[in-house]
Amino acid sequence: MTIHVKNNIHWVGQRDWEVQDFHGTEYKMTKGTSYNSYLIREEKTVLIDTVDHRFSHQFIQNLEMEIDLKEIDFVVVNHAEEDHSGALSALMEKIPGTPIYCTEAAIDSIVGHHHHPEWNFKTVKTGDTIDIGNGKQLIFIEAPMLHWPDSMMTYLTGDAVLFSNDAFGQHYCDEHLFNDEVDQNELMEQCLRYYSNILTPFSNLVTAKIKEVLSFNVPVDMIATSHGIVWRDNPTQIVHQYLEWADNYQEDRITIFYDSMSNNTRMMADAIAQGIHDFDPKVAVKVFNVSKHDKNEILANVFRSKGIFVGSSTMNNVMMPKIAGMLEEITGLRFRGKKAAAFGSYGWNGGAVDRIHARLTDAGFETALSLKTKWRPDGKAMRECREHGRQIAKQWAIHSEATLPSAPTQSTTKPEPIAPIAEVVPAKQSSHPADCQCMICTVCNWIYDPATGEPNQGVEPGTPWNEVPDYFLCPECNLGKDVFIEHNKSNGEAA
Ligand code: FEO
Repeated sequence: MTIHVKNNIHWVGQRDWEVQDFHGTEYKMTKGTSYNSYLIREEKTVLIDTVDHRFSHQFIQNLEMEIDLKEIDFVVVNHAEEDHSGALSALMEKIPGTPIYCTEAAIDSIVGHHHHPEWNFKTVKTGDTIDIGNGKQLIFIEAPMLHWPDSMMTYLTGDAVLFSNDAFGQHYCDEHLFNDEVDQNELMEQCLRYYSNILTPFSNLVTAKIKEVLSFNVPVDMIATSHGIVWRDNPTQIVHQYLEWADNYQEDRITIFYDSMSNNTRMMADAIAQGIHDFDPKVAVKVFNVSKHDKNEILANVFRSKGIFVGSSTMNNVMMPKIAGMLEEITGLRFRGKKAAAFGSYGWNGGAVDRIHARLTDAGFETALSLKTKWRPDGKAMRECREHGRQIAKQWAIHSEATLPSAPTQSTTKPEPIAPIAEVVPAKQSSHPADCQCMICTVCNWIYDPATGEPNQGVEPGTPWNEVPDYFLCPECNLGKDVFIEHNKSNGEAA
């Protein structure tokens, strides 16, 4: 099956209605996905990306019904991840020697997956062009870390179509191809889920890349992503939405998530949520048990929130494992400009809450007072939890009209003052002195210390940053010097 996109461009991808897991089981797909591949037939015939390796046979069969594969003059690989280049092995078996245009970084990942170093790779950089006839050109734009170091976008002049690969996509399957043909709420929900769970760590790069593309000042009539729909109606709406999401995005929303051994921490969560609502009825409050709710939905809510409460019972003096896993994910997603507070019930020690507080601080959240309750909260403790929710909501209020109302109607007694069960764990201090000369990678947080240098790249110990050669690449994420900032100025920006 092919779908006409515009003029001589056809979609030749694969829909996947039943897929549920992506990146192992880390990303749950609730609406399926598609692997979008595009065939351009001008004087030259060009294939842009392929499909997931599980659909190699179907892809080739489908393509052969459309054209003689030998007519393909070259293949553009915008991204080497298996969901886009998975069918390359099957394709290149049919058309060996056909040029493959990709970034230099992509050769490593394509060969790493397909083990064919002999393929006819042609590396391109931002601004490189290929004439495909009929007055049209392809222009390549490197987009490292959107989503892998190898990623790039390809722009087709004349038709003004940007093949953006992962960027601006969403895991969403529909028989309609274009954004104006599908349910708008479903579409934007999946766009946000995709951005918040996959692209958040690279927000700095998203902003920089979009500004770079906008600076080209070229028309964009369509954005043809590699997952989900093609943006043809007001296509730049998703570009502006990305700029907003990449700019420390938050709404007037507080997310509470917890795990609870005996329902005690859950009782605390309920009371805290009530307290938040008491103080600020306008704020959206969302409460999740991590052992029962969709993890990616919780993370999408964290992304949308100005602050989060994280709760756990203490088990063996540590937090419950699913909370530890969530905190690890949150650390990796590098949320910025958000607040957080820890809470939890305990029996004979309260180690979980202390550990959650420390992890949240390390993850770059501005942490507020923690709250511990011993055993099952009684009426007094529940009032304290509710009051705690009010006090934190007051600290986090972003509009002036929120006011602390009178005591809750179901209580006949005045709330008691907060008992001294709440405690603050001091933020971890940086081990870097004020005058340190270290540089930090804003993508992966790897630190360049001039005292150590980077001998693997021939940078001797004692080399100051301004003498590090321009070809230097971050050893962790393979990006260049331009993504580094001074460590002492990072202020969590790189976290
Ligand atoms: Fe859709 Fe990074 O692959």
